[in-house]
Amino acid sequence: MASTVEQTLVLVKPDGVQRGLIGPIFTRLEGRGLRIVAMKMLHMDDKMARGHYAVHEGKPFFKGLVEFITSGPIVAMVLEGPRAVELVRNAMGATDPAKAAPGTIRGDWGVDIGMNLVHGSDSAANARHEIDHFFDRSEIVDYERDIDKWIVEAA
Ligand code: RTP
Ligand code: MG
Repeated sequence: MASTVEQTLVLVKPDGVQRGLIGPIFTRLEGRGLRIVAMKMLHMDDKMARGHYAVHEGKPFFKGLVEFITSGPIVAMVLEGPRAVELVRNAMGATDPAKAAPGTIRGDWGVDIGMNLVHGSDSAANARHEIDHFFDRSEIVDYERDIDKWIVEAA
């Protein structure tokens, strides 16, 4: 049965890029059935990082978080599909890799809460805001794939 189609922002953080895990991380999410509608590599500057993580400003880990996310290039992607926000969050696993279930991205490849490989929007509303922070509307591609009819039942 078809559910509401959502878009969500996914980042492969600097540790994921340096460890050569861009492909394995996106293979999991794409293989799940989510459609990639935007993608780029960039190196976040301090201002962009503070904007992206503004909700955490003032917390003890904020400075380290900004330093880490700006320490090297990242890959940003918009994924689209029914309940995409929840699907991605579940595939990522818990924030602390030590608590993330095996089979999740963080549970399989992560050790440290700071270097937890991947970011995914935590609500549809935040996803909209975060996508606008990383992409112009013109960079998001509207298309369908032939396989989509084998992923979601028609309404
Ligand atoms: P993210 O935003 O990066 O996708 O991660 P998340 O939703 O799972 O976790 P969030 O609570 O939004 O925290 C953002 C990032 O801050 C770091 N963090 N460190 N030392 C700590 O207690 C602590 N708590 C959070 C993590 O790197 C987390 O991904
Ligand atoms: Mg978060």
